[in-house]
Amino acid sequence: MEELQGSGQALAAARFVAVNSIHCEPEYVGRFEELFSSRARAIDDMEGFLGVRVLKPTREGEPYLVVSFWTDGSAFERWVGSEAFRRGHQRAFADLEEAKARGERPPMHSSFSTYTVLAD
Ligand code: HEM
Repeated sequence: MEELQGSGQALAAARFVAVNSIHCEPEYVGRFEELFSSRARAIDDMEGFLGVRVLKPTREGEPYLVVSFWTDGSAFERWVGSEAFRRGHQRAFADLEEAKARGERPPMHSSFSTYTVLAD
């Protein structure tokens, strides 16, 4: 079986997975997909980061999933507190702020969960 590769390293080594689940307003979907297709890749050099898969739902109305694979939870925590996290979200967070400043509802909503790997 072919191994999933992420940033040149095998995702099979991952022992910690963080999943961000994002609901997009229909009118924002084009912009959202454009952001991810040209993502900052600031995360790619973080120690302990093994790879990411951005998943698009096949059923309308369901969230996009950003599934990131890590060696351990502290590597993920370091990224969330890092300049790379801020840089990787610069355009997304600016879009949210601009919508708020215009008095519009947010173009996307996100919530995340973290996991350890129970089985391969
Ligand atoms: C308010 C919360 C969040 C929102 C609305 C959000 C949305 C987005 C968007 C639209 C992008 C693409 C940005 C761009 O390239 O311009 C992005 C990047 C990313 N997001 Fe989030 N995100 C949030 C928090 C999180 C969290 C908590 C995680 C992990 C559990 C996460 C994982 C990622 C990853 C891995 C990338 C790629 C970063 C890079 O390329 O350096 N996000 N996010």
